[in-house]
Amino acid sequence: MGALFYFYLMKAIVLPEKYARPSYVEVPQPVKSDEMETLSVKTCALNHRDLWIMKGQYAGLKYPIIPGSDACAYRGSERVVINPGMFWGVDERVQDKQFQILGLPMDGTFAERVNVPADNIYPAPEHLDDAEAAAIGLAGVTAFRALVSRCMPVQGERLLVTGIGGGVALFVLQIGLAFGLEVYVTSSRPEKLNKALAMGASGGVLYSTPEWETNLKERCSEGFDIIVDGYAGASFAKLVQLARPGGRIAVYGGTGGKMSDIVPQQIFWKQISIYGSTMGSQDDFAGFLALVNEKKLKPVIDSVYRLQNTDAAFQRMESQDQFGKIVLRVSDI
Ligand SMILES: NC(=O)c1ccc[n+]([C@@H]2O[C@H](COP(=O)([O-])OP(=O)(O)OC[C@H]3O[C@@H](n4cnc5c(N)ncnc54)[C@H](OP(=O)(O)O)[C@@H]3O)[C@@H](O)[C@H]2O)c1
Repeated sequence: MGALFYFYLMKAIVLPEKYARPSYVEVPQPVKSDEMETLSVKTCALNHRDLWIMKGQYAGLKYPIIPGSDACAYRGSERVVINPGMFWGVDERVQDKQFQILGLPMDGTFAERVNVPADNIYPAPEHLDDAEAAAIGLAGVTAFRALVSRCMPVQGERLLVTGIGGGVALFVLQIGLAFGLEVYVTSSRPEKLNKALAMGASGGVLYSTPEWETNLKERCSEGFDIIVDGYAGASFAKLVQLARPGGRIAVYGGTGGKMSDIVPQQIFWKQISIYGSTMGSQDDFAGFLALVNEKKLKPVIDSVYRLQNTDAAFQRMESQDQFGKIVLRVSDI
């Protein structure tokens, strides 16, 4: 009896309760059902969402939970990736009430096995290694919907991406370049600006300096056609100022909290469109994957940790030292 039970255990990362650090434990394997496929996880990747859940700052919290939305995994012998946005529904404009993101409330990918709806499983791009394939899902689909589906970029337009060290932001930069946009970025660190320039950005400023907005205005006096922002907060008002007449701004995150001091005249007189954007539909994910395959896009990998060292990976994300995706290696097989 005991031996049989042991057979069904797996290694996983569990967040046991609010504020508790991630712990590496043995838990029962997910139970197969008609609606779900059980995948064997090879690699998985962190998103800021996993940190928010650990800190108890996310809607619909539930503990204990196995976090994780992204993975490169195997379905039998097929190498696959996951669209972590599940049950979007039929309306491309907005997700259904049933919509969920893998890793809360359903157990996620920081484990040897994970259950995923069959519709959310896609062939892994062949040009990506296991770490790269794990890194594309959540950040990639969020970036694709925010920039492409919401803002509908036109070749030659000027794009501003805030906080370029972030996982989503880096995909926005890559997708923007693939669409032939002239891309500018902001960051907290000069070395991150330099890396973005090496990837093809036309310029960047440090948002940590008080004159960042003036610096951008000096370089791009006509303003930006498109701005993609995951920070919000008080600095969002400056993004509204930096948008050119007829400009579009997509907001996918709110790390900086409430937006304040926005001058309404700058929105209505300049005919600015502000788009909220969350994750993406199956069409968004398929569109993103097609672009990754066509342009042979590769995600920027900051670092790779073993699953048992997940706490160190969380600390890396908390430090904000990262440039790109933080990956966890679950299995060496
Ligand atoms: N709605 C959705 O579907 C969705 C999907 C994914 C993420 N999000 C949200 O989007 C945010 C970013 O997620 P992520 O996974 O990309 O995070 P991440 O990889 O941890 O990156 C966070 C980035 O925020 C940037 N940042 C910090 N302070 C900033 C400021 N004052 N101004 C501009 N940027 C600043 C930093 O950029 P530098 O390193 O360059 O300084 C940092 O790298 C989070 O709030 C997350 O919850 C939402």
